[in-house]
Amino acid sequence: MAVTVDVLGNKTTLIERALMGSTSRIVKAISERGQAAIALSGGSTPKPLYEALAQQALPWEKIHIFWGDERYVPADHPDSNQRMARLAWLDQIEIPAANIHPMPTGANNPEADAQAYEQELSQFFQTAPGQFPAFDLILLGLGDDGHTASLFPHTDALQICDRLITVGNKDGQPRLTFTIPLINQARSVMFLVAGASKQAALAEIFAPVANANQYPARFIKPQGELIWLLDQAAGENLKVNE
Ligand code: 6PG
Repeated sequence: MAVTVDVLGNKTTLIERALMGSTSRIVKAISERGQAAIALSGGSTPKPLYEALAQQALPWEKIHIFWGDERYVPADHPDSNQRMARLAWLDQIEIPAANIHPMPTGANNPEADAQAYEQELSQFFQTAPGQFPAFDLILLGLGDDGHTASLFPHTDALQICDRLITVGNKDGQPRLTFTIPLINQARSVMFLVAGASKQAALAEIFAPVANANQYPARFIKPQGELIWLLDQAAGENLKVNE
């Protein structure tokens, strides 16, 4: 695993770097394998990145969009990660509808929807049960509490190692999420972290020793590359042991 930590001047430069890093890895995947499979993060940080991606001239027909986690709400709900990405980006580009793979949240049964998405991934990547596909790029955010995707501290989702998708839990609210082993199979994982409120979690994540169940982003150790893009407010006091 190659780890890169870049502290950018402000959120604007953070997004500019994320745009370059995302597009370069998408183009590389397409040149090597004929297509790119990427998974989006939710939350607020990546929204300007999605807006910038909407302005790019990329071969969208060769790009497949998945989500790394989703709130268990309808697709048109204000909290929906899918809705945010569609409004900011996907509704603005010419991309085949079949290339957009939202997490289903309509079964009124999070476990059933998690299994359905797992089957969709296995079908897309042509993987056998128990095999973890490699996404070309997984975008992640970081919660103030050290969670990522919908892998929240001290939840059952952190223990799931034989599934691609599981049910996360935020204060009793169900979510769908990639599991740790699926994220760690990625060729590239890119964290986008902005704001001083993330400093405490970052310090614990980069500390030589800390409890990963308390700070789940510590579990993210992809077989490919791990890129941390931080703005100054988030990263200014961070000590990264070389
Ligand atoms: C979600 C996310 C979540 C998010 C972090 C950071 O569904 O909310 O996937 O993991 O990335 O909570 O959120 P902000 O970018 O809003 O700080």
